Order: sequence, then C-alpha cells, then structure tokens
Amino acid sequence: MSLLEFIKKSPKVELHLHIEGTLEPELMFALAKRNNIQIPFKNIKDIKKAYNFSNLNSFLKIYYEAAKVLVKEKDFFDLTWAYALKCKEENIVHTEIFFDPQTHTDRGIDFDIVINGIYKALKKAEKELNLSFKIIMCFLRHLDEEAGFKILDKAINHKDKIFGVGLDSSELGNPPNKFQKLFKKASENNFITVAHAGEEGPPEYMWEAINLLNVKRIDHGVQCLKDEKLVKKLSKSQIPLTVCPLSNIKLKVFNKLKDHNLKKMLDKKLMVMVNSDDPAYFGGYLSKNLIETQKALNLSRNEVKKLLVNAFKSSFLEEKKKEEWIKKI
Ligand code: ADE
Ligand code: ZN
Repeated sequence: MSLLEFIKKSPKVELHLHIEGTLEPELMFALAKRNNIQIPFKNIKDIKKAYNFSNLNSFLKIYYEAAKVLVKEKDFFDLTWAYALKCKEENIVHTEIFFDPQTHTDRGIDFDIVINGIYKALKKAEKELNLSFKIIMCFLRHLDEEAGFKILDKAINHKDKIFGVGLDSSELGNPPNKFQKLFKKASENNFITVAHAGEEGPPEYMWEAINLLNVKRIDHGVQCLKDEKLVKKLSKSQIPLTVCPLSNIKLKVFNKLKDHNLKKMLDKKLMVMVNSDDPAYFGGYLSKNLIETQKALNLSRNEVKKLLVNAFKSSFLEEKKKEEWIKKI
C-alpha cells in the first residue's frame, strides 16, 4: 500500500478543530442568504482573495466576521453535520472539536442555540456515521476573565454535553495567567482543560498553560523548541501538542511547509500529531495536512504511523477504545 493510501485508509483522530473554522464558503453564502446577513464578500473569488493572512490576528478578523451568518440552531446543526460528513469521507473515527460560544453570545445568540445545534448533529453522526466525539468549549482570550466566568456558568448547565474547556483567539498579549482563576473553577466543575499556547506566543505561555492552567494538552505548541528545558519537560511528561501544519503556514508561523519543525519535534520524542485547526480557511482537512506534511518533511511510513497512533493516545477516548483503534492502523 502506498503511503498516500495508508494515510487515507487509516482510521484517524482529530484533536484540534474549531467547528466555526469548518464554515466553507458555499455554506457561508447559503446561511447569509437564509438569515439575511450582510457579509463582506460578493463571491468565491472575493473570498479566495481575502483568505491571504499575514498572522493569527488577520485571520481572526475574517473568521469572526464570517461567523455572523450562524444565527439559528439549524445553522449550527448544518455546520456541524457538514463537518461530520467530511469525517466520514476522511476516515476520521473520533473527533474532539472546539466551539467558541462568546463569538455568538456577544452578538445576542443564546448559548443553548449554539450548543444544542452542535450537539444534535454530533449525536446523529455518532448513530449514523459511527463517529465518536468530545466537545471542548473555548474561552476567547482577547476578552477578560470576568466574561469567561459568565460563559462557564452557562457551560455548567450543559455539563452532559461539554467535556472540557480550552483557550483560543489572539495569543500575543493574552497569556494563560490571565485565566488562572477561571480554569481553576472549570477544573473544580470536572471540565478537563486544554489551551492554545506557543502558536505565535513564547515558550513562557506554554509553561503557564502547564503550571497555572493544569492543561492535559497544549494546542499548537510549536514554539517549544526555543526552550530546551521546556522540551525536556514535554518529552518526559508526554503532554500532547496538537500541531496544525497547514494552519501554521497560512498564518505565517513558518514560511513554508519544508521549514516546519514537526519532524524535529518527533525526533525529540514529543507527543505530537497532525490536525487541521480551521480547514475551510487553511486549505485542507486532516488527510491533506498529513499528506502535504509527509511530502514536505519526507516523513517515513513509521513516522506517519507514529503521528496517527499519537493522535489516538492523546485523545480523551477510554483506554480500551484507544487500543482497539490503534490495532487497526
Ligand atoms: N481560533 C480559531 N483558530 C485559532 C487558532 N489557530 N489560534 C487561536 N485561536 C483560534
Ligand atoms: Zn486552533
């Protein structure tokens, strides 16, 4: 079996995926029309031009603007169902998705509308597509901790649906320490914790995520190689880093895929795997991330297998399920 076939056919896990980041242009236009919402794009050509980002913030501006087309429960359902169908196509058997409620509640959309739309689509996917899932609610780090507490109170009412909490949005200037009390309260309420750190921000933010937010995984974490002590810590603890190669290129964290440090991270025995982040904006879903990264970094079949196995190991699936899937790779 060719390496390409191996990647496509293997059962796969996705651990870093923002559901709002799966909003494809076609659905964006359809929802804008359905809800009578103005968007700053006339056609697909316009969109292609706009998706030329210089850094994380330049992407977030467009991403939050586009999310305004999501208004009703059915919109969140349709968005999530479209992603579930992608999972089927990609042979993704388990996904742990992020959603950003504050992006929606801040423009007057009820929290229940957001979570119910997403959850109902995933439950349908579990039944009809055999897709297992966890939902992780992210706090927007450009907002203050007080706003985080308000949204955490909403999440507590939906503890049956929400497995964990995370931290995303504009990283530089918004270190994890800003949210220490909030994450403590989330932990006390039995939410597992993860956080974006070391995407654009310094290794110090990764230390804070580990030591102050008690995270079980770090999202991105590609800046860790700048700090030898941190590399040692990550290698010893095997805290997973959910790396997103195509995202890193689109947001200019690295100039080209050939310059990406994923292989160096593998060589240092870090618990890394490949994810797609915001695939509708960054040019590809999970398989494309794996295929392009394999080519650019000349990864061996064993290295690709390691990435696929690491994803299962780093997931919040129960141990028995992990073992069953890993045997099938
Ligand atoms: N929100 C959506 N995608 C993100 C990313 N890559 N980093 C931070 N926040 C995000
Ligand atoms: Zn992300």
